[in-house]
Amino acid sequence: MGKIAEETVATFQKYILPTYAPGMMILKGKGSEVWDDENRRYIDFATGISVCNLGHCHEGVSSAIKEQCEKLVHVSNLYYNEVTPKLAEKLITSGYDGAVFFANSGAEANEGMIKLARKFGYATGRYEIITMVDSFHGRTLATLAATGRAKYRKGFAPDVEGFKMAEFNNFESLKAAITDKTCAVMLEPLQGEGGIIPVDVEYLKKVRELCNEKNLLLMYDEVQCGMGRTGNLFAWQTFGVQPDVLSMAKAIANGLPMGAVVVSRKYCDVLKVGEHASTFGGTPLVSAAALATLEAIEKENMLENCRKMGDYLMEKLTAMTKPYAFVKGVRGKGLMLGIVLDHSGAALKSKLQDNGLIALTAGETVVRFLPALNLSKEIADEALAIIEKSLAEYAASL
Ligand SMILES: Cc1ncc(COP(=O)(O)O)c(C=O)c1O
Repeated sequence: MGKIAEETVATFQKYILPTYAPGMMILKGKGSEVWDDENRRYIDFATGISVCNLGHCHEGVSSAIKEQCEKLVHVSNLYYNEVTPKLAEKLITSGYDGAVFFANSGAEANEGMIKLARKFGYATGRYEIITMVDSFHGRTLATLAATGRAKYRKGFAPDVEGFKMAEFNNFESLKAAITDKTCAVMLEPLQGEGGIIPVDVEYLKKVRELCNEKNLLLMYDEVQCGMGRTGNLFAWQTFGVQPDVLSMAKAIANGLPMGAVVVSRKYCDVLKVGEHASTFGGTPLVSAAALATLEAIEKENMLENCRKMGDYLMEKLTAMTKPYAFVKGVRGKGLMLGIVLDHSGAALKSKLQDNGLIALTAGETVVRFLPALNLSKEIADEALAIIEKSLAEYAASL
């Protein structure tokens, strides 16, 4: 660690609450590459946890931010601005007909989605939302109560009421959880923090039918798996079953904070004027960045690249992990992939970082890869070589 980092770490430790334990210092980034405080280069397969989906400092997004910050940064939602409606139109015309509520983070978008479900059920006395084991929906009190991974809730009791858990991909478990108080079902089409677990399409079709039959909202949390990550702009398009409401965040503005709740037309009048709001939701500055992000995804054919590179990585990773008995498999979709181990993924992740590749863990036993959607074949091959070398060194150390 260099001198700059030592000073920064000391200041961090003194003045920032110890809720984070950063592993290294990153000083700059471009595309799929970042550099640390000693100018060491890494390939970034974490993208700020699926935030910089276009890579770091994408030119189109950076110029849109520069241009907009000279013009108007924030005015509040008491006034119209010319950018945010254009962004909403772009999001809606890329998916299903409806309307958008803008927020600032994944948890805040999910809070909005939860409030919408409660308001939807209010007239009939229904308020319960079924969520899934191993899900992750955020750190606010309601989204924690919705989160299936119990470790995040520990120490923060009592849980917000109104959530029931079902097993993911288990239709009988879902049916058993539904009562006459249920108003919605909420799930991630591809669970991220839970361990890169894709939804089973046949299960999802049945969930859709059940929601129709019982007048329940089907709500997807696409905070991590949306914005192109699975090879389509929205994850529901990859799995082919349309929700009534979905939440997104992370990558919408390629690094500036934004969340969104996308509501299908039928439910657009559930929340009325004054019933939900957010001071910073959809500022002109962040909206300009998000619009530029969406335009770049389209113009630069990133969805096609994501599908192509995703298939390529999946094929190569599956083959190279075969010889190792401690690897149980490779799973995921598009550029949201995980190597599943039979023990903790933390040490392999560190080994990858020592060898120049930044990755993440997920669940207890998964090493997670979330590369930029415009990942080049050249960088993919370099990353694969690092993974192959790291696997061999790691296996030798066991
Ligand atoms: C699926 C999912 N939902 C919600 C969240 C929470 O998002 P945020 O940290 O922006 O509040 C996350 C964050 O990792 C997530 O992966």
